[in-house]
Amino acid sequence: MEKIKDLLSFFGGKEKLKEFARQHETPAYIYAKSIVEHNFLAYQKHLSENQGRVCVAIKANSNPELLKILAAHGAGVDVVSWAEAQRALDCGVPGQKIVFSGVGKRRSELERAIDAGLAAINVESQAEFELIQNLCKEKQKRVRLSFRLNPNVDANTHPKISTGMFENKFGMDHLQVEDLYKRSHQDPWIQAVGIHFHLGSQIFTQDPYDQALDQAFTLIDQLRKQSMIVEFLNVGGGIGLREQSIEEHIHAIEMHMKKIVDESHGKNIKIFVEPGRSIFGNAGILLTQVLYRKQTSHKTFVIVDAGMNDYMRPALYEAPVHLEYLGESKNHETMDLVGPVCESTDTFAKNITFTVCMQGDILAMMHVGAYGYSMSSHYNLRSRPAEFLWDGAQYRCIQEEILA
Ligand code: LLP
Repeated sequence: MEKIKDLLSFFGGKEKLKEFARQHETPAYIYAKSIVEHNFLAYQKHLSENQGRVCVAIKANSNPELLKILAAHGAGVDVVSWAEAQRALDCGVPGQKIVFSGVGKRRSELERAIDAGLAAINVESQAEFELIQNLCKEKQKRVRLSFRLNPNVDANTHPKISTGMFENKFGMDHLQVEDLYKRSHQDPWIQAVGIHFHLGSQIFTQDPYDQALDQAFTLIDQLRKQSMIVEFLNVGGGIGLREQSIEEHIHAIEMHMKKIVDESHGKNIKIFVEPGRSIFGNAGILLTQVLYRKQTSHKTFVIVDAGMNDYMRPALYEAPVHLEYLGESKNHETMDLVGPVCESTDTFAKNITFTVCMQGDILAMMHVGAYGYSMSSHYNLRSRPAEFLWDGAQYRCIQEEILA
């Protein structure tokens, strides 16, 4: 727990956060600018411009102010809809630094991607490839494509966030990728430039990456032997986040990048990475206030003003919530921490032993900067919460609360 406590200092510290909560509506997301930057630079330092690119997966967090900070550091982005691509363009990320993944890109999205000249569209199926071929021919425009390999590797993560197995809808097998790569070679409008994989999210071991890298390099060798050009290998994102200090997290990124760069050494290939959670996760907290204590004959419920619409990972994946108490109580009790949404799954923690929370007390949910706000909704016609940035001196509102 100490490690997490230290983390609060990156958000202004306990006292400032309490003062913030007295002056602003809760729930509210707060991001630490310095953590976003640290995390990004830990990746970036391993990849100079000619060694590859860090394409931040902005589905994890697409706040424009955070994107502008990353763009200023030279970040590329990984997007999964044209709206994400447009937001990145608006925030100063050039088209040549954008990769576009996803199994279900619409025709209009592909048209825009072709017009914008992206770094690559990640092709996920033969049908998508053929649509792109037709669009390029109609438009008489060239496009850069990379092909998403499904290596059928178990990333040992929650099944709901695994993407690199045949069971999952993503990517194509080795033979399909090889076939489409060759077909690109025959098409004057298609420039095949890379191979892509993404194994899943919340991955804590290097082994799945090693297995996928092996497969990808075998495929790349085969393609090159047939005179195809492979500029880059995109190894996706996936580095996990748990209750850990900033230093431990940065260390995990460094070790991952070192391994990837070492294994690709001498292969004459650029490396792209697409981190999402490991850039934003520990850079965001959600402040919430205790609305009521409710004692039943069975248990104690502590009801807070944040709900599953504000932070849905516990409801969706049984993700644990790391809590920090900002009140004055000293005693502990066993309780359920729940939100106001009309669903029993609107539960952040069940039967935990935690500090006795009184009405009005403030809690911080830690490590919620990734897939927190970006997955929030207006369910029950609740507002989407405001977002603030702590820049080391002050809290700046970077997204007003949105009323339903
Ligand atoms: N690249 C691609 C193609 C992806 O699909 C994803 C995430 C990433 C990169 C970034 O992965 P990360 O570094 O963030 O693990 N909502 C879930 C996570 C879904 C991830 C989807 N794809 C959660 O809250 O755990």
